[in-house]
Amino acid sequence: MHPEFWHERWSHDLIGFHRDAPLPLLLKHWPALDLAPDTRVFVPLCGKSLDMVWLAEHGHRVLGVELSEMAVRQFFEERDLLPAIRETAAGRHFVAGAYELIVGDAFALDADVLADCAAVYDRAALIALPPELRRTYAATAWHRLPAASRGLLVTLEYPQAEKAGPPFSVAAAEVHALLDRDWRVDAVERRDILADEPGFVADGVTALSTAVYRVVRRG
Ligand SMILES: C[S@@+](CC[C@H](N)C(=O)[O-])C[C@H]1O[C@@H](n2cnc3c(N)ncnc32)[C@H](O)[C@@H]1O
Repeated sequence: MHPEFWHERWSHDLIGFHRDAPLPLLLKHWPALDLAPDTRVFVPLCGKSLDMVWLAEHGHRVLGVELSEMAVRQFFEERDLLPAIRETAAGRHFVAGAYELIVGDAFALDADVLADCAAVYDRAALIALPPELRRTYAATAWHRLPAASRGLLVTLEYPQAEKAGPPFSVAAAEVHALLDRDWRVDAVERRDILADEPGFVADGVTALSTAVYRVVRRG
């Protein structure tokens, strides 16, 4: 996906991926990770997700990365937060309260930027990317997280031939192929959500599930 694709989405408010409430699967599965409250959580391809707000409300610090400055500015504006802004090689950092959101490329973050993170939350990030970029994403952003980091990965599964992504279908076999070298990956839930997604039904999709994986970075 070319960056321009996402900038167009944000500038025309075509952000059907954005939810007005935190993801119920986050609320259900995050506590079992048993992370210390002040753990810093990496949220790649973060958009202006309210999942970050839920994480902050539960004591976490959040490090997001997002291509769209419009998304990042909206996130802070919608919380009435006035972020401090600074530039580094990673991009433009917006910092306020528990949040540090970098306007930049998730693939280009180096290990130093991620060194203080001990958790990761990926919802609509891996599945936002076509196959070749998924490999790059796993080999860069995920690969650079510190040893023993823990987190959740949320995916979608549907017959890819029935609809063009994004979001893309990413089956369990691919999740393992991408992450097993660096991460222990355990599926914790798979749920049929076709009835909840009329847009997919309208596009002719005949089966749709979401899957949640608990991940632990190998030492
Ligand atoms: C499908 S949206 C999901 C946003 C968020 N995770 C959520 O749940 O609402 C994917 C986001 O990734 C951003 N994005 C795409 N490629 C990126 C990259 N290489 N680095 C950082 N952000 C990227 C897009 O601008 C878009 O906001």
